[in-house]
Amino acid sequence: MKKRVLSGIRATGRLHLGNYLGAVKGMLELQNNSEYETLYMVADVHTITTPFKVEELRKNRREVIIDYLAAGLDPKKSVIFQQAEVNEHMELAFYFSSITTIARMQHLPTFKEKVRQYPKNTTMALLNYPILMAADILVYKAGFVPVGIDQEPHLEVTREIARKMNQLYGTDFPEPVRFATKGEYIPSLKGEGKMSKSVEGSYINLTDSLDEIRKKVRSIPTATESGGEMSLGIKALFTFAELYISSEVEKYKNEYEKGTLQFITLKDALTEAIYKELEPLQKKRKQLESDKVYVDKVIKEGAGKARAIASQTVREVRQKMGLG
Ligand code: TYM
Repeated sequence: MKKRVLSGIRATGRLHLGNYLGAVKGMLELQNNSEYETLYMVADVHTITTPFKVEELRKNRREVIIDYLAAGLDPKKSVIFQQAEVNEHMELAFYFSSITTIARMQHLPTFKEKVRQYPKNTTMALLNYPILMAADILVYKAGFVPVGIDQEPHLEVTREIARKMNQLYGTDFPEPVRFATKGEYIPSLKGEGKMSKSVEGSYINLTDSLDEIRKKVRSIPTATESGGEMSLGIKALFTFAELYISSEVEKYKNEYEKGTLQFITLKDALTEAIYKELEPLQKKRKQLESDKVYVDKVIKEGAGKARAIASQTVREVRQKMGLG
């Protein structure tokens, strides 16, 4: 029996380096390990939990699929699909909401952060966000979830829901664990906080050109602080260096300690390394953009395969809850 894996990314736009290093790299690693059966979706329904534009969502739920394929997700090895195409996620989420308290949802750090960000849009959908995520994972009875460290509170909720469902209704949901990558927390280019689509100037897109990447990397603040403490910007720079030019980090650290480091040399070496990794993805993306038929086929077949598994779980849950 293969170990099952599920992950997803919201359809908020083009993927950035944080998504790639924190999630997609783990998704690829598990896809390419024959012990695992992998399902990867675009969390398009999660996108409507915060303000969105209809036309952008329509476009982005497809763009993320193209980004996935460009990054190396392979429909021959993984089920690649759009969440909204599989109604069972939403149905299961409603059943799960019957065993989840409002207080538990209100206390989640991710919920509090979004309330601060969108004070006028604290909808029921936003409150339900983690329940839908639990349903995404458990509708496939997946035990492994490649995501960044910021998603850990949601996985904790998923495990609680699995336990409670099993206790109350005798289901056999696993308690899923996070599959972590080396890039589980990618800092913002501004130094403070994490790389995030919602913070302008914090991210590098997978589609950025060499010049754009250079400009962004050069913008990482490297002014040294009095007292000799490493500033957040410099820390971020070294985090990227560890990930991209690890064999040279020692040398740059020594120079930094001696006070002889030319930050621009380190930044430009980093830029080259980042671009070198992204260039083949960008080439592949160009091809995919012009192959509408292929992308449509991937989307359609993915939905069919996902539904086949999801409908079985939902049928079982309905039966166990007295609804079928
Ligand atoms: P989302 O769309 O916010 O982010 C997608 C993935 O990218 C990771 N990530 C990062 N990793 C490291 N450093 C960063 N700076 C960084 N920024 C983003 C996130 O951890 C995530 O893995 N709730 C999910 C989407 C989702 C999902 C699911 C994931 C919905 N249902 C089921 C897994 C399983 C989210 O908001 O991701």
